[in-house]
Amino acid sequence: MKPIALVTTKPGFEPQLKDELNKLPINKKILWTPFRGILKVLSESPYEFLEIIKKNKNNLKFLLRVIPLEVECQTDINEIKKAVSFLINKKKETLKNKSFVVRCNRRGNHKFTSEELERIIGKYVLDNFRGLNLKVSLENWDFKINIEILQDECYISIFYDGFNELVIQENIERIKNLKRYDERPLNRSERKMQELMQKLPYIFENLNCVVDIGSSPGGWAKMLSKKSKKVYAIDRGELKVKANNIIHIKKRAEEVDFEKDIGEDIDLITNDTNLYPDESISLTLKFAKYLKKGCYIIHTLKARGVETKKEDLEQVLEILNQYKNIEVYKIVNLKANTKNELTLILKKV
Ligand SMILES: C[S@@+](CC[C@H](N)C(=O)[O-])C[C@H]1O[C@@H](n2cnc3c(N)ncnc32)[C@H](O)[C@@H]1O
Repeated sequence: MKPIALVTTKPGFEPQLKDELNKLPINKKILWTPFRGILKVLSESPYEFLEIIKKNKNNLKFLLRVIPLEVECQTDINEIKKAVSFLINKKKETLKNKSFVVRCNRRGNHKFTSEELERIIGKYVLDNFRGLNLKVSLENWDFKINIEILQDECYISIFYDGFNELVIQENIERIKNLKRYDERPLNRSERKMQELMQKLPYIFENLNCVVDIGSSPGGWAKMLSKKSKKVYAIDRGELKVKANNIIHIKKRAEEVDFEKDIGEDIDLITNDTNLYPDESISLTLKFAKYLKKGCYIIHTLKARGVETKKEDLEQVLEILNQYKNIEVYKIVNLKANTKNELTLILKKV
């Protein structure tokens, strides 16, 4: 497989686009690039890929543009000239007596600008393919020499006669109004909460008051605020989410004065703090006193290392064992957990 297309989306929606493209019925690999909103597709043929995209357009809601790629080279003017020559030679029978334009989309830092490169390549083609009787036309061209630069990587195509970049205008219109954080998880933590909400939906029913310990930047608080009347988000760090029902207690959990800062019975406690397992569980237990009977606790156990995971779990279970009204309801390994993490679901009995 080789690079056969760049595909674009609104920055922030790359994972959604990747998911959609992965479902296309064609042998391919979708790669991230260092550039926001741009993914690279590896497959066998840019022509075949373009056809598949056209056929499956209705299933591709996050795709804004497809730029088919024919030849790859290094971002070096001489290498680009060689690659352009190769492509023109390959297609020369169809290009005779035609007008053309050179367009370059450059991403990264280079010694030349896009316009300079366009001029250099334009002149090079005129000088080196005199026999084809070509002329430059910036407006009414018959074919376009398209140069896409991603820092050191350069991709060249000749767009002519139906083989062209594809712009999906209806997606551009739709996606420009999409609020990013409604669609895209704020962080990996948020994906943990999404998984839990799917796996154990009953935990999130009829919630009035949730206490989220270690909330910043707010992935869990954001999800929980959609399920609960109120979310007390405890963290000294900033929250990147706003909702009327999120009350940010900007303190360490140890410093929270329950009566003053919260003062109402809790329906769900969540704790995702990045503390040592024993420190973190002691914070959960501090608030568990105020948890209603029959209600749950979601607690991420963050082991000191993969090798100590078992030992750390045992230590936490031993601590919990001293609390007869706290039952270990389930221990889940979420897809979004790191290798060091386990999610404990506890229940007050
Ligand atoms: C992995 S982040 C939590 C991510 C969060 N669950 C989310 O969805 O965005 C861990 C957080 O725990 C907080 N933290 C660590 N020790 C804390 C403590 N003693 N009290 C409150 N928060 C604490 C850190 O400030 C950090 O923001």
